[in-house]
Amino acid sequence: MTNYTLDWDQYTKLARLAAREGVVLLKNEHNTLPLKDGTTISIFGRSQFSYYKSGTGSGGMVNIDYVTSPLDALKSSSDLSITINNTLLQTYEAWIEKNPFDKGEGWAAEPWSQKEMPLDDDVVAQAAKGSDMAIIFIGRTAGEDKDNTADPGSYLLTDIEKDMIRKVSHAFERSLVILNVGNIIDMQWAEEYHPTAILYAWQGGMEGGNGLYDVLVGKVSPSGKLPDTIARSIEDYPSTKNFGDTEKAIYQEDIYVGYRYFETFAKDKVLYPFGFGLSYTNFAVDVAGASELNGVISLSVNVTNKGEYEGKEAVQVYVEKPQGLLGNPVRSLVSFAKTNVLQTGRSETLNFEIPVKDFASYDDGGITGNKSAYVLEAGTYRLHIGTDIRSAVPSFDYYIDSLHVVETLSENMAPVTPFTRMKPSISANGYQLTFEDVPLRTVDVRSRCLEELPGNREYTGDKGYKLADVYNGTVELDMFLDQLTDEDLAIMVRGEGMNSPRVTPGTAGAFGGVSDRLNELGIPAACCADGPSGIRMDCGTKAFSLPNGTLLASTFNVELIEALFEMTGLEMRRNRVDTLLGPGMNIHRNPLNGRNFEYFSEDPYLTGKMAAAQLKGMHRVGVTGTIKHFSANNQEFHRHDIDSIISERALREIYLKGYEIAVKEAGATSIMTTYGAVNGVWTAGLYDQNSRILRGEWGFDGIVMTDWWAKINDEGGLGTKNNTAPMVRSQNDLYMVVNQPDANPFDDNTLAALADGSLTRGELHRNAANICRFIMKMPVMERILGLHDGSIEVIGLQKSEENEFELDVEYQNVANGDSLSLENIEISTGSRHVFAVSLDEAGMYEIKMTGRSYAGELAQMPVTLFQGSTPAATFSFNGTNGEWVSQTKQIFFFNKHAYLKLHFGLGGLELKDIKFDLVNSFSMKD
Ligand code: BGC
Repeated sequence: MTNYTLDWDQYTKLARLAAREGVVLLKNEHNTLPLKDGTTISIFGRSQFSYYKSGTGSGGMVNIDYVTSPLDALKSSSDLSITINNTLLQTYEAWIEKNPFDKGEGWAAEPWSQKEMPLDDDVVAQAAKGSDMAIIFIGRTAGEDKDNTADPGSYLLTDIEKDMIRKVSHAFERSLVILNVGNIIDMQWAEEYHPTAILYAWQGGMEGGNGLYDVLVGKVSPSGKLPDTIARSIEDYPSTKNFGDTEKAIYQEDIYVGYRYFETFAKDKVLYPFGFGLSYTNFAVDVAGASELNGVISLSVNVTNKGEYEGKEAVQVYVEKPQGLLGNPVRSLVSFAKTNVLQTGRSETLNFEIPVKDFASYDDGGITGNKSAYVLEAGTYRLHIGTDIRSAVPSFDYYIDSLHVVETLSENMAPVTPFTRMKPSISANGYQLTFEDVPLRTVDVRSRCLEELPGNREYTGDKGYKLADVYNGTVELDMFLDQLTDEDLAIMVRGEGMNSPRVTPGTAGAFGGVSDRLNELGIPAACCADGPSGIRMDCGTKAFSLPNGTLLASTFNVELIEALFEMTGLEMRRNRVDTLLGPGMNIHRNPLNGRNFEYFSEDPYLTGKMAAAQLKGMHRVGVTGTIKHFSANNQEFHRHDIDSIISERALREIYLKGYEIAVKEAGATSIMTTYGAVNGVWTAGLYDQNSRILRGEWGFDGIVMTDWWAKINDEGGLGTKNNTAPMVRSQNDLYMVVNQPDANPFDDNTLAALADGSLTRGELHRNAANICRFIMKMPVMERILGLHDGSIEVIGLQKSEENEFELDVEYQNVANGDSLSLENIEISTGSRHVFAVSLDEAGMYEIKMTGRSYAGELAQMPVTLFQGSTPAATFSFNGTNGEWVSQTKQIFFFNKHAYLKLHFGLGGLELKDIKFDLVNSFSMKD
């Protein structure tokens, strides 16, 4: 039995290291940074008091013990003597009291920015008089279900924010703008108002403020690099004009996403290039050796610290491919590596091994004579090496004298809607932007799929085999599954959630053994929990909040990310979570996507490497991540219905590439499809994607799950939530999620399709086999076999005593009209009690709480009822002279499984019960 130990101090340290290394310094004039000993600073911007640790939605809902803001970290600096202008601080505090933080009400309701305090000239002048420098905080959030917009307060600064930067930059000799944002924002103000320093701190999780502090005070030099190109205007991004439609997103820019577009067609539109980021020191980068042997290019690059501070540098290698017949961007990232900390004058040699086949382009139309193949067209493949895409210099030429086919595949996911796409044409002034028709689908995908059906399987009845027999190698998986009835199999492709009583409280879903009968066969229920920035447990259990995806990508440090996610893996084991619902790895196609904060970059190679690093870290301790959202989830607006129209080449080279890296390099075994469609087929039922490419081409043998309550369609039809037949067929193994899988609450059509012959038992059996194979590799299987008791030793300092949630909490069934007895609970000031309830159905309930108190009539005893970790209602009791009195509130339960937490503001109250009366029922199916 392996003993696992989670060292909380080490976890905290690694998160802080990541938060530091993700800081991207874009400008640093007049020695603004690092801060000097004895400095007096005036800090502007309300965001100094409300640090955004992450974005919103499922990727941000981590219950935390604490979050260290940069202001807290600066205030308690023990490294430098720093004085913060207290008068200004108090001016802000007084204003914020009158203008409190607006959280919004409910899901996707928090505004993406907060109202800023207008600055009077004399406030700024006074501050400038007594301070050596200014720091200005700008904050932005965004998230699931609501995109950014190209408006002030979202992608653009508001007039008040601009005014603040203008006035402060003018009045202070040194002014630093800190951007606490999920992804890039408009930067035109940098050219207009000239603050002397600018940095992206992103959203750094609970240790974010500490990581940023380390950079500000010069404990470390910044070493983060931009994972996205910052262009002058949102209009300059080639995807902007095709972003935000309600039905269709036409990917006209094709493979020319981010720097692939700007470096090829519009260099002058770039304010800060991809891969760019300053340090306090400077490095010389010299290529000491470059050669090719057997199709692999070896490079050795010496990096020498020539400056006065110690620091790290990230070296990037880009290929410039010949244009050939296909046309290519002038730069594509093919490798990167980061040095260790180099003292002044010290060098390190970074070695790169780059397979030439990685330079191949995908011929989706057959223009090279090799349709559906990755090819290297004849010509020079020039490697550019440097510390950002612009300054990288030509360092090695590799010449291919005739076309070489690297891999022959077959046409998959090709578009059916005609459109044109970008293509460079060479002119005297460089590359001109032209458009060509996109190659359209030429195969009959439906009949091809039918030809590829697996062999059928017959039901054998119960033979007494258990999943443990398969695990122990005494029974074949297929024979074991032959014992399952059709109905058992149909249940198995339904995940249960959210808050399934079968798994860790407050998590997103359970899958596998989701009925008693499946449990009897020895199939346990595995647990999945959001998400990319830490474990989300809606019942209030605290977890570690990690830096966001964009920040992690900016570190360009895969070793660090791997080490950090080993810690996350241990935290998952401790909370009995088998697979995290992350990393999110969609491409930053456009800066306005609300979920960019969860994702890594505009570049698929960087994206793939970061996801692979996270998975490798989790795999070290036997858990995994569910890479998502497969594929092209690049817009939140109308996300359940949007159809992304994309060429097969762009899919393969850009939108699928990161996933391919994660599968092939890190052995990903769990993947989540999207809400929307690609080329007319909702991805949850997209056979070409989920079977042919993922499994057939890449060798994936894990599970594919839908996004929560996703739609599925038969090509040509509209997506609906209960059309599970094409989902099963495509080998999207799991429909996530329903309240009670054995009751088929969504009326899904799996069994009906089996009955009318449009689906085979062999196909359903194949899904069940995928699920069982996955589960057998997960900790839940070790636990039910008694191979590991699931306990994890936790050492190091945890801030909260409450970190441990009672994992074995019992669910109580509460039928409509029933009451939950509260007679035996102890009530004192600040005490709390948690109940896990399973209602008859989801919907709006009238909740009647009955209590009494012998305290005086004017006594006030508030009881707050939380649903998960969100306050749902406060019942305010006064003294009742011992009479029982009742209060009613309406509360909406979107799920029949729920956690209710009662928090008592004061003691002195006695409660009898809570009665539940259904007002309106609600079904996620609609
Ligand atoms: C999100 C997923 C998430 C799931 C479960 C969905 O709304 O799109 O990314 O994992 O919910 O919370």
